[in-house]
Formats: sequence, C-alpha cells, structure tokens
Amino acid sequence: MRVAVVGCGYVGLVSGVCLASVGHDVVGIEVDSRRRDQIAAGVPPFHEPGLAELLDDGLTSGRYRVSGELAEADAADVVLLAVQTPPTGDGSIDLSYLTRVATELYDVFTYGRRRVVAVRSTVIPGTTERVLGAAFGPEVAIASNPEFLREGSAVQDFLHADRVVVGCRDTWGREQLAELYRPLQAPVIFTNPTTGELAKYTSNAFLATLVSFSNEIAHICESLPGVDVEDVLSILHGDRRLNPGPGERPQILSYIKAGCGFGGSCLPKDLSALIAAGESGGTELPLLRAVRSVNEGQPVRLTEATQRALGSLEGRTIAVLGVAFKAGTDDLRASPGLRIVDELLDHGASVAIYDPLVSVQALNGRVQHGPMRVAADMADALEGADACIVTTTAPETGALGDLLATGAYPGLVVVDGRRVLDADDLAGAVYVAVGRSVRVPVEMS
Ligand SMILES: NC(=O)c1ccc[n+]([C@@H]2O[C@H](COP(=O)([O-])OP(=O)(O)OC[C@H]3O[C@@H](n4cnc5c(N)ncnc54)[C@H](O)[C@@H]3O)[C@@H](O)[C@H]2O)c1
Repeated sequence: MRVAVVGCGYVGLVSGVCLASVGHDVVGIEVDSRRRDQIAAGVPPFHEPGLAELLDDGLTSGRYRVSGELAEADAADVVLLAVQTPPTGDGSIDLSYLTRVATELYDVFTYGRRRVVAVRSTVIPGTTERVLGAAFGPEVAIASNPEFLREGSAVQDFLHADRVVVGCRDTWGREQLAELYRPLQAPVIFTNPTTGELAKYTSNAFLATLVSFSNEIAHICESLPGVDVEDVLSILHGDRRLNPGPGERPQILSYIKAGCGFGGSCLPKDLSALIAAGESGGTELPLLRAVRSVNEGQPVRLTEATQRALGSLEGRTIAVLGVAFKAGTDDLRASPGLRIVDELLDHGASVAIYDPLVSVQALNGRVQHGPMRVAADMADALEGADACIVTTTAPETGALGDLLATGAYPGLVVVDGRRVLDADDLAGAVYVAVGRSVRVPVEMS
C-alpha cells in the first residue's frame, strides 16, 4: 500500500520504516529540515535499537523516503499522523500540531477517491472525530490508531505488536487499516475512535499507577527498620495472578518496582492530559492526581536522601549516573535524572553527569546553569565525588558495581535510585537506597 506518515519523530519514523520493511511504499513527511536531512542520510535522529538498519534498508530499497512536502500525502492510500501532542502550561494537551496538519491536508488532497487518515499520536478522547471530522468530508475515512511502542524497544514493539487498535466507524477504512497491518500478524481490535483514544491513555495511566504505587510502598519501607521494598515487592511478584510461574518473567513486573519515578515523553504528559481533560468535562480523577503527585516527589526524595547522608549539599560534588528518562534511550524528556540534577544545583552542589547514550550537546539548555560537567565514563564521573546517585538501569551500572567493589571510594555515599547495586559488595562506600532501611534477605525454599 502507499502510506504517508506525517511527523518523523520516535513514532513516525519507527512506524514508517517498519511499515516499509514489511513491504509498503512509505513516505515520511517532516517539517524539520535538519531532522529530514539526517533521515535522508540514513542517520536516525535519536537512539533506537535496530532503527538505523531498517532505515538503511528502506532507503536502499526505495520503499522508504523522506520529504518536506505535505502534498506528497495526496498519493497515499493511508495517511498516518504522528505529530507531537505536547503539554501546555497547565498540563492539558496541545493539539495545535495535529489541527494544523488536518487543515493543511484538506488543502493538498485531490478528491474523487477514498483514503484513510488515522491519528497515531496520543490524543484525548473525542479528538479524532472532532478535529478530523471537522476537516474532512465522508470521502476520507478517519480513524484513531494509537501507538503503544516503548522507546528503547520501539522497533521490536512495532513489528511484534500485541495488538493493533483501529478506532474507525467506516467499514472500508477498517479494511484498509487491517490490510496495512496484516503483515505484522497481530490481533486487530476494531472499535470507535474515542474508545481507541481512551484505551491508549488507560494503558499509560495503568503503568504510571503501578510505578507510583510501588514508590509509595517504598516510602513505608524506608520508615520501617529491617524492611526492604525489593523484598516486599518480590513477594507480591510471586502472586500467581501476576506471574504464572517459571519461564519468562512477565514484563509488567518491571513496573511494580520502586525507583526514581517515571519520565519520558508519554507517561507524565499523558497522565496530566487525561486529568485535565477529565476535569474540564466535570470528572475529577483523584487517583490519577495522586499518582502524579507521588511521581513528582520521587526525584526530590532522592535528593533529600543524599542531603541527609552528606549533612549538606552545599559545595559538595555529586555524580549523577543516568540522565535519559530510562536505559536504552537518549530521550531526556521529563527525565527524573535531570530533575535530580536541577535539585542538586539548586542546593549548591556541583554535578558530574554520566549517561552512556547522552552527549554534552544534548544537554545544552536542558539543565539549569550551574557547576556541571559531563563525564566520559563512570570512573570519570566518580572522580572527586562525595556522592553518586544512580538513576539508570543501563548495563554500565555493572561496571559501577565493579569500581565500587575495588574499595577505591571509601566513604562515598552511593544513592541507588534504581536498585541495581549489591549493598554487600561496596567495600567501604555508604549505601543508601530507595525503599530500604536495613536489608533482611527473604529466603525462598
Ligand atoms: N515517543 C513515544 O514513545 C511514544 C509512544 C506512543 C505514542 N506517542 C505519541 O506519539 C506522538 C508523537 O510522539 P513522538 O515522540 O514521535 O514526537 P516527536 O516530537 O519525536 O516527533 C514529532 C515529529 O512531528 C514533526 N512535525 C510536527 N508538525 C509537523 C507537520 N505539520 N508536518 C510534518 N511534520 C511535523 C516534528 O518536527 C517532529 O519531528 C505524540 O502524541 C506522543 O504522545 C509517543
């Protein structure tokens, strides 16, 4: 099929090259000329495993190309909209990018044949029918087609989707989208556009709730001597309703874990957008408000734990290990690690940052001004540090464990915000961890 994907960010570029890889003829349409040039040269503008190879294949075979001309969407059978839907100042959703594309598409379409326009961006319930319904007549089948990929495994998530959601009332439109995704061999769930939109928010709100729930249990553990959140949650994980038994560990368990809080371009923004949309429609969402509030407090709690261990942060040097919002990505949007950096600078500390995927350039303008340097590796970050705060689960934390085990950092305060280090192997460093007072191992027979 001929496909146009408008917006070549995480969702649009991954969707475009993956659809090309299964045989479709795809054009990615992108306004940002720098991003376009990078993509045309075969260089993904962000880190995503497997993406460079698929992009290269698509460009070489001619099944994927990138363009700055929205008019190219006119030739497509299916147009996917993957533009950003960022938060406004009050947390509600900014739909201006989507609205603009819809209006401009109306102008570039020639009429006299049917096509599908589907919203892949995350939008509040009712948006597809309101915005696209107002822009197009019945010749255009409109649909919500939310994306569930996770950064860091986006290509795999797309190509091996658990389900494809097609929120579309038009039978012909449903058939076109089913045909588009047929090569993925994923179950296709047909529904109306508003249900599709809310299903995406429900998924993200659920994951966010699990994280904040786990962090709140961690807060109780921190006040109970001898209790460790890792032990408490591992007992919960053993529940057969969550974990059917030996074999593959259910991925959902990785959200039932205490840490620095959730970040990234989706969970925080989508939670706030849903809260704002619910409330503007007269539906209070106290549970989701609490989920957000627990999450916003988590980076502050880690900074306070560091301060308690050191006495004061003023004039101290702190290494922050990991500033992308999670391991396996270079995405800094709503990153708990960056929040911690800002908190530390606010309290008069100097900060050394190390993240295996984040460059000095990427950090430009992303943190407050202050005494901050970007280290070349873990050892460089620890040079002269009074404390280090671990905010990543990146494989490099194994090297950190090895460094600490050498005994070369006596008295260093190690704040484990992701529970990746072995407290018994730190050779003289002072171990502080989220959700832990004193460790008592749980024996399993
Ligand atoms: N990033 C994720 O993990 C993820 C996962 C699922 C859903 N989503 C949702 O998908 C949407 C896109 O997210 P993203 O992370 O890919 O955003 P992004 O900011 O990385 O990409 C959006 C792209 O659209 C381009 N764009 C904006 N207006 C345009 C126009 N008029 N014409 C052509 N290009 C235009 C931008 O320049 C940018 O490159 C959001 O609604 C997001 O919530 C994101």
